[in-house]
Amino acid sequence: MALNTIVVIVSTSALHHGIRPDRRAASAPQLSRRDFAGLALGCGCWACAAPTADALAALAPPPLELQSKFDLPRDKMKDAGFAYGMSVGMVDYEAAVAPSKKELFAKMLSALPARTDALVVELGMGSFPNAPYYQASRAPLDIVGVDPNDSMAFFAKQSAAPLLKAGSSVRVTHGVGEALPFADSTADAVVCTLTLCSVPSPELALAEVRRVLKPGGQFLFLEHVLSETDPNLAAAQQKLNPKQVARADGCNLNRRTLETIRAAGFASVDAKYFELSDFLYLNPTVAGIARA
Ligand SMILES: C[S@@+](CC[C@H](N)C(=O)[O-])C[C@H]1O[C@@H](n2cnc3c(N)ncnc32)[C@H](O)[C@@H]1O
Repeated sequence: MALNTIVVIVSTSALHHGIRPDRRAASAPQLSRRDFAGLALGCGCWACAAPTADALAALAPPPLELQSKFDLPRDKMKDAGFAYGMSVGMVDYEAAVAPSKKELFAKMLSALPARTDALVVELGMGSFPNAPYYQASRAPLDIVGVDPNDSMAFFAKQSAAPLLKAGSSVRVTHGVGEALPFADSTADAVVCTLTLCSVPSPELALAEVRRVLKPGGQFLFLEHVLSETDPNLAAAQQKLNPKQVARADGCNLNRRTLETIRAAGFASVDAKYFELSDFLYLNPTVAGIARA
């Protein structure tokens, strides 16, 4: 089956709302007010996310009880603003974490089955800053991003363009980590960068990651966390946390994410804690690969 599909729910709805993604620059997208309104109005409904004939792994209805608890109505204007901000405002941060991501992705990709249909789920795909790292894959991949902010897909599609050219499939579907739209044991890998800080329940999201991963499947993560080495910084992170949660789409500065991952029941967790130097509250970082 051809592996060059992209089924992006917001690009679909964006077309409905008059956005023409193909006329956008691949980097540093500029949004008109009309585009911004279109992003905010993206419908993100389940029907729009239905796999097309070219789709590989079938999406499945998420666990309904969890979906109704965690996939709540969102402020579309705020989502549009946050999506735009993430798409243009993380250049320096991404450069700083690039060596770690490069190493982790190389490790993950080399351990994926060398088939053309390996399924990789991106939890909270955002604007898809991880896209360049998939280019080292030995075979085309079936990549599915799950994100509750429907405005992200417009930017994710732009990031995905080189991967599509190289033969991979990239889809983005509306959803939340706490209720993933996949059947049990279907994913070869789940990737999660800067998302466990934002999900309302990291514990439930990780339980979902374990549910959808095949036995031995990989969970690649890179997350900012509460400082383990600097009590003053940790205190400042705690103090600032309520403001950060309110203004940065639920992003928490005070999570002990590696502890949560270690407690989640993975067969193994290979991870490290390290500190970036230029990002203050976002310096303390954990990154690694867990195996289901
Ligand atoms: C800080 S952004 C990170 C995006 C991207 N992974 C990256 O590395 O830039 C956090 C992302 O998590 C998404 N998100 C928020 N709540 C979520 C949830 N419950 N489940 C999955 N994703 C969620 C947001 O919409 C956003 O795209």
